[in-house]
Amino acid sequence: MPTLAIVGAQWGDEGKGKVTDYLAARADMVVRYQGGANAGHTVVFRGETFRLHHVPSGIFYPGTICLIGNGVVVDPEHLLQEIDELEARGIDTRSLFISDRAQVIMPYHKEQDRLEEEVRGDRRLGTTGRGIGPCYADKVARYGIRMIDLLDRASLAEALDRVLPIKNRLLRQVFHHPGFEKEVLLNQFLAYGERLRGRIVDTVTLVNEAAEAGKRILFEGAQGTLLDIDYGTYPFVTSSSPTAGGVSVGSGLGPTRLQGVLGVAKAYATRVGEGPFPSEEKGELGARLRQRGQEFGTTTGRPRRCGWFDAVVGRFAVRVNGITGLAITKLDVLDGFEKVRICVGYRYGGQVRRTLPTDLRLLAQSQPVYEELPGWEQTRGARTFSELPAAAQRYLEALADLCGAPIALVSVGYDRDETIVVRPDLLLL
Ligand code: GDP
Ligand code: IMO
Ligand code: MG
Repeated sequence: MPTLAIVGAQWGDEGKGKVTDYLAARADMVVRYQGGANAGHTVVFRGETFRLHHVPSGIFYPGTICLIGNGVVVDPEHLLQEIDELEARGIDTRSLFISDRAQVIMPYHKEQDRLEEEVRGDRRLGTTGRGIGPCYADKVARYGIRMIDLLDRASLAEALDRVLPIKNRLLRQVFHHPGFEKEVLLNQFLAYGERLRGRIVDTVTLVNEAAEAGKRILFEGAQGTLLDIDYGTYPFVTSSSPTAGGVSVGSGLGPTRLQGVLGVAKAYATRVGEGPFPSEEKGELGARLRQRGQEFGTTTGRPRRCGWFDAVVGRFAVRVNGITGLAITKLDVLDGFEKVRICVGYRYGGQVRRTLPTDLRLLAQSQPVYEELPGWEQTRGARTFSELPAAAQRYLEALADLCGAPIALVSVGYDRDETIVVRPDLLLL
């Protein structure tokens, strides 16, 4: 399958980085299509841990082209830092390119993100503070700044003249903030443009030429289905489209050219930030999952909320993404549990629902309905499906059944090698 999207099927942090890195061994190109530095993708190999925020998880294979697509919001200062850190650790980043159409995260976006959260108080969303929401809002309002603007003084000056009068009025009059000076921003961001010149290119043509030449292309999603601006638990969502529909919009590959969608899900569930999470376990069990799974945010370090696998969410993700195969990660975290549970429905007002309600109040008041299965001793160390304990195999089969998609890959540890390929035909293999 030469073009494959890798999308989060839950609330983010499903292990997309690990899965992308594993599959990228056979890819010619890896493309990020949405999100920004709110993402934190962890890749572990040869005993080293890398945390990526902008850079696609294909960067560890020399020669694999890595693209930051037009749908991404780029923080140039942060990106340069990420590139410097990778280079300092001996990773060659010469094959990394950024779309000239991608929107730029400006300092006022980060300020606005922080100030809006402050005003929301108890109603805060728990954002990562990376300026994501305000940047996408400006894009849609048509006064965003694009990466191409950083390459030319007159273009950047013009773009700043378009946005700053509005932005400064908002910051000063509503938030009592001193605002931002055009000359300071102009010089600062032209300097970033200078450093990134040569990497800022027409990625839409690169993606399409690669696809036409039959190259193997991975599209690496950030965040997850339940954080999607349309399909997530709105307003507790991010401001982009992590779902498979976002691939086309955010990279320029026409939708008919995408051949497969791999949905990545943990063998249990986590969420970081605010918002409903029906199968959340707030007590001892949640703490056990957090400790065993090392569930602390890659970007913000916040403890992640933990709970059982939610198959209502899983089935929804299979539908809205058109998932052709599932990658179940962190199965090893459930090793040693006597019983494991799967949420198969929500009880509300004497009724059991098997679809995800739009109404958040209903979701918040829903009681999860569980199916309980026997646990197992150890999955870590297994390298084939048949090496997994029978109970773990049954658990995976139940997940596939309930979600409505076959299991294509299983991960039983954070290392690159701790991976089981179940259906190579559903992967880029
Ligand atoms: P992403 O945002 O979807 O790329 O996921 P994160 O990197 O934010 O979070 C996943 C975490 O789980 C990382 O620390 C990974 O190293 C780790 N991880 C991934 N797969 C496995 C696995 O199968 N088992 C264990 N124990 N850890 C894993
Ligand atoms: P990866 O790619 C988990 C969450 C934030 C917050 C909400 C909105 O590593 O899976 P934002 O800063 O995007 O405006 O925050 O979305 N969030 C994530 N949660 N993984 C992520 O990315 C996330 N990116 C954003 O915690 O609840
Ligand atoms: Mg993450």
